[in-house]
Amino acid sequence: MSLLSRVVDAFTALYDGEPDFVVRAPGRVNLIGEHTDYNDGFVLPMAIERAVWIALRPRSDRRVRVYALDLEEWAEFDLNALRQDKGWAEYLKGVAWAWQEAGYVLHGWEGVLTGDVPRGAGLSSSAAVEMATARAFQAVSGFAWEPATMARLGQRAENAWVGVRCGIMDQMIAAAGRRGHALLIDCRSLETQSVPLPEGVVVVILDTATRRGLVDSAYNERRRQCEAAAHHFGVPALRDVSAADLAARGHELDEVIRRRARHVISENDRTLAAVAAMRQGDAHTLGRLMDASHISLRDDFEVSSPALDTMVTLARRHPGCLGARMTGAGFGGCAVALVAAAQAEAFAAEVAAAYRAATGLEPTITITTAADGAAIVRQRPL
Ligand code: GLA
Repeated sequence: MSLLSRVVDAFTALYDGEPDFVVRAPGRVNLIGEHTDYNDGFVLPMAIERAVWIALRPRSDRRVRVYALDLEEWAEFDLNALRQDKGWAEYLKGVAWAWQEAGYVLHGWEGVLTGDVPRGAGLSSSAAVEMATARAFQAVSGFAWEPATMARLGQRAENAWVGVRCGIMDQMIAAAGRRGHALLIDCRSLETQSVPLPEGVVVVILDTATRRGLVDSAYNERRRQCEAAAHHFGVPALRDVSAADLAARGHELDEVIRRRARHVISENDRTLAAVAAMRQGDAHTLGRLMDASHISLRDDFEVSSPALDTMVTLARRHPGCLGARMTGAGFGGCAVALVAAAQAEAFAAEVAAAYRAATGLEPTITITTAADGAAIVRQRPL
């Protein structure tokens, strides 16, 4: 059964009536441009078919009541009295808080939430929940959907309410993704460009079945190291440092900080080169840039893991593979590969078998297309 029918059926059973709205917000996979967003740099993610869905109807008071179908748990909160707590509902409350802080007048609603974006896998389930919640509030409160504004508020919800210091990439692609396209995001200006995927290749997500561990502390440490490098160069962010600047003055930096900076600076260049390659339909160059990104993340930024390295090596060995790398924050979760479309099924089966044999873990390998960003997908005629 599709998630759309599942969420509508659950709503009907629980609330004794059809939902007025169904909203959907996607997870994402990042093709290239990793750990660059909080350096004001460039990223190239695409929204995926896996998504968070909410079926809902407005309430006449200022309460929000939601049933999480997969967790079999209720959450309820009052928009007049938001209080921080723990658990999945914090993402919804954080959105309510951030939007209200920004002056939006929100109405209450009740609904059912479900989804198929795995948590902690580097596919950005939290941004999907945030943007689905934002669409739910939009459906009942009626404000304009300006993707960059929505993404900034979603990031604020996550930074200030949930307490995770993420960059802007995940919310931005969940808010602004476009079917069949990756999105080049300039994380300083939030300008975007849709970039079509080259013909004849597909994007494959390879879930290592490992989940990131102490990611928050390692992530925050990487951010601090990048800030230290930018500070040394006297610029607001590493976005403003070129490869030539680094070559000239890199020796002034501590060795670890220099490698962190080298990753970010080279990754920004690779991301722009990847866009140029895609615009020319050059999938081979795109693949080589993805390979180089992985090596840089593994050796210079040190955010890969043995499972991710194994998956990338096995993927890369397959003749149908043009390039592969870890994706997302790292330390576990998913890799992404660019694969010749004609060989994609064989690639998935053979890499899964090889990974199973090498690690004893059961991977999930998914051929995905680029999906649309967050949307109200169904609205009952009034
Ligand atoms: C996480 C963060 C993003 C980004 C990536 C790494 O997904 O939420 O903002 O920093 O890691 O590229």
